[in-house]
Amino acid sequence: MKKAFITGIGGQDGSYLSEYLLELGYEVHGIIRRNSIPEHQSTRIDFNVKNLNVYYGDLLDISSLEKLLKKIQPDEIYNLAAQSHVRISFDIPQFTTQVNALGTMNILEAYRNACPEAKYYQASSSEMFGLSVDSDGFQRETTRFMPTSPYGCAKVFAFNITRNYRLAYNLHAVNGILFNHESPRRGSNFVTSKVVKEAVRIKKGLSKILELGNMDSFRDWGHSKDYVRAMHLIINHSVPDDFVVATGQTHSVREMTEYVFSKLNLDYKDFVVQNPIYLRPEELPYLRGDSSKLKSTFDWKPQYDFYALMNEMIDFWMGIL
Ligand code: NAP
Ligand code: GDD
Repeated sequence: MKKAFITGIGGQDGSYLSEYLLELGYEVHGIIRRNSIPEHQSTRIDFNVKNLNVYYGDLLDISSLEKLLKKIQPDEIYNLAAQSHVRISFDIPQFTTQVNALGTMNILEAYRNACPEAKYYQASSSEMFGLSVDSDGFQRETTRFMPTSPYGCAKVFAFNITRNYRLAYNLHAVNGILFNHESPRRGSNFVTSKVVKEAVRIKKGLSKILELGNMDSFRDWGHSKDYVRAMHLIINHSVPDDFVVATGQTHSVREMTEYVFSKLNLDYKDFVVQNPIYLRPEELPYLRGDSSKLKSTFDWKPQYDFYALMNEMIDFWMGIL
């Protein structure tokens, strides 16, 4: 039985990845942070299932990481933990950098000392590309990084230190450069979830307006379930390497909002207002990923397109509100 160790196991991707690996027959281990309301930690995934083991740990506490890795001796390590909200990274830049950059260094050190034979996956991000777009309108593995947020800057460090550890210490350490991916489990302060949840509340008479920031940025939105399958392929490639994971399609926040409201037979223009508190000090205006390298290396293609993703999220929020 293969063993996986996942940081961020209670997050959107960590929860789907755990379920996927359990289905494949893995023994799954993961860390959660202490929370004053413990019930909040298992809102996305039931931790009381066979072959799933959860421990208290933190990327900022190297002793907890090293102790667990020594004991578990995993075959695969997935570092998914992060302060993952880009706008909030402007509010708490130092914390974001400590967790997303130095926290990555901590787990790489623990990995190198405790179980260097394991394979390591780093959750890198399209936010690292920032303002940089190739002349054909795509971002890919060779596109230079020009990050536009403390979050993006910290993720560039994490990407580079992962590559550096791979080459310097001959470790099987890889980066997945994932474009935006969503699901019913997406935190409700990310734009897709926020729009769907509030549109459904408006439809049900529970709310009257939706306040947003910049509606003219473009994102390449996929489904988290498709992307965790890609993580597993990338970490298990015979040669450690870095891969972009994206759908290749891009939509503006305005188009996404218009689609969600129209599915509920509403006109978004009657309900959406701009609130400057949701604008960012520097915006990343456009993302569209080219995942040709991933597709030509593995048998991967997304099962969800943008519309199937948004429809699933609408059905989810219609069901629970
Ligand atoms: P998420 O839902 O915000 O999950 C992040 C998880 O990390 C949460 O469980 C969080 O725990 C945990 N965490 C935060 N700080 C930690 C710390 N110091 N020590 C241990 N755990 C900590 O994010 P996601 O969407 O699943 O994303 C997973 C990873 O992929 C992140 O690294 C993110 O930056 C990256 N990524 C995401 C996307 C995307 O579009 N979703 C795209 C590219 C890259 P709490 O619940 O206690 O906060
Ligand atoms: N969150 C949010 N809230 N975003 C808004 C709002 C709002 O009210 N109004 C407009 N937006 C715009 C943002 O300015 C941004 O251009 C776009 O919607 C997407 O914002 P988010 O959903 O917060 O995602 P993100 O692109 O900033 O970051 C996500 O994707 C990255 C990969 O590119 C996160 O999941 C990151 O962790 C991930 O690395």
